[in-house]
Amino acid sequence: MSKSTLKNSPIMNTYKRLPLSIQKGKGTIVWSENGEEYLDFTSGIATCNLGHCPSDIQTALQKQLTELWHTSNLYQIPKQEELAHLLVRNSCFDQVFFCNSGAEANEAAIKLIRSFAKHNGGKQASIVTFQQSFHGRTLATVAATGQEKIKAGFEPMLEGFTHMPYNDNQTLRAIRELSPTAVMLELLQGEGGVIPADSDWIKELFSICKQDGILLVVDEVQTGMGRTGSLFLYEQYGIEPDIMTLAKGLGSGFPIGAMMAKEEVANSFQPGMHGSTFGGNPLACTAGTATLKVLSETDVIRNSVEQSHYLWTELESLKATYSFVKEIRGRGMLIGILIEGDAMKLVNKALHEKLLILSAGANVIRLLPPLTVSKEEVDLFIQKFTKVLQHFKEDQHG
Ligand SMILES: Cc1ncc(COP(=O)(O)O)c(C=O)c1O
Repeated sequence: MSKSTLKNSPIMNTYKRLPLSIQKGKGTIVWSENGEEYLDFTSGIATCNLGHCPSDIQTALQKQLTELWHTSNLYQIPKQEELAHLLVRNSCFDQVFFCNSGAEANEAAIKLIRSFAKHNGGKQASIVTFQQSFHGRTLATVAATGQEKIKAGFEPMLEGFTHMPYNDNQTLRAIRELSPTAVMLELLQGEGGVIPADSDWIKELFSICKQDGILLVVDEVQTGMGRTGSLFLYEQYGIEPDIMTLAKGLGSGFPIGAMMAKEEVANSFQPGMHGSTFGGNPLACTAGTATLKVLSETDVIRNSVEQSHYLWTELESLKATYSFVKEIRGRGMLIGILIEGDAMKLVNKALHEKLLILSAGANVIRLLPPLTVSKEEVDLFIQKFTKVLQHFKEDQHG
């Protein structure tokens, strides 16, 4: 096809974009190209957890920009060591592999699981994942993902994954019987509709994994970095997984991913088995270290818990007013609102009110405010969101 017959944008057609060009951001506010102000309750999909352009991260990056951007993983990278030590100190894991995204972190986890299986008995690895899960868009993570719409058109799928029902006791018995190498899951399914794992179910799953020597892998790409009221969500379940993946909030918007593991599992990787050109470069690790310091040394997570309680109470009273609002669910600042109706219609209405919110599946609204959100901003959100719900109701009833 000649260039003249191609129309529209030179960007490939992989996203259905909303009609808003964002040019600037600070905290919970973004400004459009023509200077209009929007309240952002999406945080770049759980990425800008400290709000837009947080000053501590900005200062650290500005300094690093003048010193060193990139070398390669063929040399020692002190900035990488610093972030790895900090991650290890703040978690139950011993070692880290750095990459650039959530999908890459999960790819690394899948490779580590396969290598672990080879080193421990030599059998082929099998991994249980869950229906409605989301683990990324690369071929291995698409195979891991438990949603047909994500896989469609990309067959044949990578082998070795079995998808089971989430929060289901029959699943626990099936895992015992199958005895896979690993069970990989989100402790709160984000993209699949904001569905938290039942606490007793996770405790039982953890105990089965421990007893039967099955690796427990938590994908905390969306739930990690303070999003759900603790640095990592697994802490709230009182469990110690073998592997954890991170990305999104780790760099406050600067691309970085990480796969962490207990030493006895991490040992299955040897030099040459996995790698990444950009993974853990000085610039990305500077963003990661500065972010983790803010999360672990200031009261930003405590603020998010406080504001989350307040937001939750306000949302419950909206639910009592609007009968098409069926359920408020989630944890901390990862909140789902189940509605009767089309969630995208509500997202579009919110855009008219200069409010940015997300959907998660066909009928769930997802709220991901920054952890730094203030009470006044929650009030502003409720004011705007009430208007959105009212318009939605009027539309539905003519
Ligand atoms: C739980 C989970 N895992 C993995 C990913 C993929 O992350 P990325 O888009 O950075 O590859 C996402 C993205 O939404 C996610 O929510």
